[in-house]
Amino acid sequence: MFEKGAKSGGDLESAQAKNKALEEAGAIVPTSFEGLEPAIKIAFQKLVEDGVILPTQEIVPPSVPEDLSSAIKSGKVRAPTHIVSTICDDRGEEPTYAGVAMSTIIEKDFGVGDVISLLWFKRSLPRYCTKFIEMCILLCADHGPCVSGAHNTIVTSRAGKDLVSCLVSGLLTIGPRFGGAIDDAARYFKDANDRKLSPYEFVESMKGKGIRVPGIGHRIKSRDNRDKRVELLQQYARSHFPSVKYMEYAVIVETYTLSKASNLVLNVDGCIGSLFLDLLASCAMFSQQEIDEIIEIGYLNGLFVLARSIGLIGHTFDQRRLKQPLYRHPWEDVLYSKYV
Ligand code: COA
Repeated sequence: MFEKGAKSGGDLESAQAKNKALEEAGAIVPTSFEGLEPAIKIAFQKLVEDGVILPTQEIVPPSVPEDLSSAIKSGKVRAPTHIVSTICDDRGEEPTYAGVAMSTIIEKDFGVGDVISLLWFKRSLPRYCTKFIEMCILLCADHGPCVSGAHNTIVTSRAGKDLVSCLVSGLLTIGPRFGGAIDDAARYFKDANDRKLSPYEFVESMKGKGIRVPGIGHRIKSRDNRDKRVELLQQYARSHFPSVKYMEYAVIVETYTLSKASNLVLNVDGCIGSLFLDLLASCAMFSQQEIDEIIEIGYLNGLFVLARSIGLIGHTFDQRRLKQPLYRHPWEDVLYSKYV
């Protein structure tokens, strides 16, 4: 519309000459920069009056919301969190497990039992407790290739599957009949002992309800073929725990069930379940409410799951190392019957 202060290259190129030329050509040329706005207004009104443009309604532009991160930074808002986590904090210089720095874990020579006590129970348990946890893991790491979990893992490995699939297919067999009765054993032994039921009352009331006593019974172990794992854990607890009242209760229940059948021994699940009750009750680090919550949530099967993962991973590698082909169950080992 106008040229102000344009670089002069001669009379014809001066700002005045250019403005004049523009004016003559019909352009609106304000005399100063300040005159630009009124000139636009006048030009606009004229175009409206002449019907060249139709004025539209003014739109109020929507206000742009404030950026969340700058609002949080300035302390104006607090965003809701979607996850609550209380066991491990990785935001500082080094991660902490229940408040204990990783360097402390290494410096103080913590073992896996200490790490479990921090991450599962959110406290540092005394050494005799963490040693007991470690013994459970060592003794339950594997139990040969014929048990349900290892068998599944071996078959899966021979089908050419990856490590995680092999591990998970073994872990998925853990349940009420195989390795997954620790929590139930703790629940039932605690309830029966706290209610002062005699072994007869306890076992027979379970039978009346059609429930097998969790922690009792084994496929191959019996009165004359004791489970070494159970013996070792019992020996340790008897000499290190302040009290083993729940385990003693489980043992008198076993005496009663053995009078019915010789394979109705206290199995490793029942042994760990009852001894963990003793650990929780006698170390004076848990309230009654916390013990009930641990039993209710079901922490204890986690010990077997963790331990047996070691063996299942071992079986996966073993099959691969041996380059075992796809497994197929032999026909001779299946009873094909129309009469069942
Ligand atoms: N409580 C009461 N009775 C039991 C029992 C238990 N825990 N376990 C087995 N029995 C009885 C059965 O009822 C059966 O009696 P019946 O013939 O009168 O019906 C008899 O003992 C034999 O049962 P059987 O199924 O042949 O035993 P099994 O050797 O196949 O079972 C277990 C082994 C471990 C699956 C079984 O004892 C059981 O379910 N135990 C409870 C769960 C448990 O602790 N699992 C973890 C194992 S590590």
